[in-house]
Amino acid sequence: MAAANARVGADAVRVIILGAPGAGKGTQAARLAAHLGVPKISTGEMLRTAVAKKTPLGEKVHPVMEKGNLVPDELLVALVRERIAEPDCDRGFVLDGFPRTLPQALGLEEMSERPRAWVVFDFEVPREELMKRLSGRRWCPTCQATFHLLNNPPRREGTCDECGTRLIQREDDHESVVAQRLHEYDESTFPLIEYYRTRARMIPIDANRPMDVVFGDLLLAIEVRA
Ligand code: AP5
Repeated sequence: MAAANARVGADAVRVIILGAPGAGKGTQAARLAAHLGVPKISTGEMLRTAVAKKTPLGEKVHPVMEKGNLVPDELLVALVRERIAEPDCDRGFVLDGFPRTLPQALGLEEMSERPRAWVVFDFEVPREELMKRLSGRRWCPTCQATFHLLNNPPRREGTCDECGTRLIQREDDHESVVAQRLHEYDESTFPLIEYYRTRARMIPIDANRPMDVVFGDLLLAIEVRA
């Protein structure tokens, strides 16, 4: 099938970050995208924006997200297809939270050139550390910046560094919902690690280290690819 996203040049940088909830995908995707000068495409953020704006998509996905379940594949594939067809993705992009099922990975392949040239990072973090990261995460409902009470506190307690909004806990970071999100990860997303091992440049990352150290490893891997 012809690549729907034919404008993305052959030398464009295309990165997928896989990892369990709380592994640090969003944190590193933001830094990496800023460093590379390409957009970060976070499906979780796109969906939370739709929920906050009460769009038809938001109304549809909110009950699914608040239970910690995955949103149907066809909605996500359509959302990403539309996003990566935008001109700012011509030089590449960093995907955070997509794909997370096999049908989504297949959908992405259909809309992309040279999937074997993709860099796929798999963030590995022990379960008990994930729980600490999720319970301590604080989030800005206005600009979606992410902080942590201990690991990455805002300069002024309870206030977003970027826009000054009062920080809150994400509704899916409550303990009962986190258990379901981890279950979804084990069932649907973990198998993608094996899938990408033979289809892309798969790089396991020990993400249970300080943020700057993890970021250094990502840059090194990207430079080696160039
Ligand atoms: P999404 O927003 O993608 O959530 P997630 O994958 O569960 O990931 P998180 O955002 O919880 O964690 P993260 O890995 O980004 O960690 P972060 O950098 O914030 O999806 C939410 C929901 O949307 C899903 O449950 C589903 O319903 C739906 N959805 C989204 N995409 C979908 C898709 N493709 N298909 C179907 N449904 C979809 O870091 C976590 C905390 O740790 C922060 O406080 C941070 O400051 C801290 N931290 C980060 N790095 C470190 C470090 N190295 N050391 C110490 N602390 C750190």
